[in-house]
Amino acid sequence: MKNKTLLVTGGAGFIGANFVHYWMRNHANDKVIVLDALTYAGNRANLDAVADNANFRFVHGDICDTVLVESLLREESVDTLVHFAAESHVDRSITGPDAFIETNIIGTYSLLKAAKKVWIDEGLNKEGHRFHHVSTDEVYGTLGPKDPAFTEDTAYAPNSPYSASKAASDHLVRAYHHTYGLNITTSNCSNNYGPYHFPEKLIPLVLTNILHDKALPIYGDGQQIRDWLYVEDHARGIELVLEKGQVGENYNIGGHNEWANIDIVNEICRLMNKAFATRPVLAEKYPEAKAATAGKAESLITYVADRAGHDRRYAIDARKTNAELGYKPYESFESGIAKTIEWYLSNDTWWKAVMDGSYLNWLTQQYGKPEE
Ligand code: NAD
Ligand code: TYD
Repeated sequence: MKNKTLLVTGGAGFIGANFVHYWMRNHANDKVIVLDALTYAGNRANLDAVADNANFRFVHGDICDTVLVESLLREESVDTLVHFAAESHVDRSITGPDAFIETNIIGTYSLLKAAKKVWIDEGLNKEGHRFHHVSTDEVYGTLGPKDPAFTEDTAYAPNSPYSASKAASDHLVRAYHHTYGLNITTSNCSNNYGPYHFPEKLIPLVLTNILHDKALPIYGDGQQIRDWLYVEDHARGIELVLEKGQVGENYNIGGHNEWANIDIVNEICRLMNKAFATRPVLAEKYPEAKAATAGKAESLITYVADRAGHDRRYAIDARKTNAELGYKPYESFESGIAKTIEWYLSNDTWWKAVMDGSYLNWLTQQYGKPEE
């Protein structure tokens, strides 16, 4: 197979960085260029493992800079653009939607314009190019407890400024295929978890708060359901879409792993209690983690005000991706969460550095959450 040259937007964020690691491990001869604006969610350290690889290049820049994107596509003769860059946190989209409109909609539009200009109008990689857009299951809206899971044909019904901005970008991507013949694919994935997950999202927030003996905030009644997938299984799904997916198509990626928020938080507490009980060295390393050391991490659970417009349930039906592309997640929830917990226990330097306190203060201002 011909070597590829990938432009990965948002490659310094959670999923983007995991994708870059995965790709470079499995496609050693491909060139990978990351374009990332290094917002609060982007971190150069997430790419340290590949930084010295001769086939890797990091470009600090904004996807809204169409001229920069065009010049990268030309200068590197990029044939594959994988678009992760986004504002991704629902809570932030509720209090400050502007950045979501700017990056998720205008930014995606900017990438599409650059790709059309270089790949279609100028004819560079006219046949072999691919624009892969990374989207979310949240564009499909919310489900009742007995509703069937989202398929690729479920009508879009986004409910938060985040999901609305992602839905708008999905539509633009689709339109650039139908109108201009851009070779696009889109994947809609469920909630991811794993290494490098910024600790404002539920799973890493719970892990790091347990280690700081801080409250574990549960929004509303905690019965909202999310469908969790280990991040490397998302990377594997995108790889299959790039290699075998039909141009112009959407593919759902998910692991059939629905959990109510309160149940997943209790499960993480149980696993952390067990880790502290079986490895006394953890209590020495994390002297603040008093509840976990006492085998009672769940005592930190604190119910707080619900998120505005909180979607009740997401669930992905990935049968099309399974059948057409042979997709199957490798990790069970048990193995994926065990790897994730180990990663956070071993990489406190990483999460301490990204948690400069500002986001916790921000959350408290918004929701009046207890921090202690
Ligand atoms: P993230 O917030 O961890 O990372 C986003 C990255 O994009 C950061 O590195 C940030 O610096 C970069 N970025 C933001 N604005 C930019 C701009 N204007 N120009 C260039 N770079 C910019 O997000 P994530 O959780 O890794 O999500 C990645 C993608 O996957 C997003 O498109 C998101 O919608 C989608 N997605 C996420 C999940 C999930 O569970 N996290 C699930 C499904 C889909
Ligand atoms: P989150 O990780 O923000 O992902 P998303 O909103 O994209 O699904 O939240 C996952 C679920 O956990 C969601 O239903 C909101 C809930 N949640 C809490 O109950 N407490 C928290 O502190 C956070 C961050 C999320």
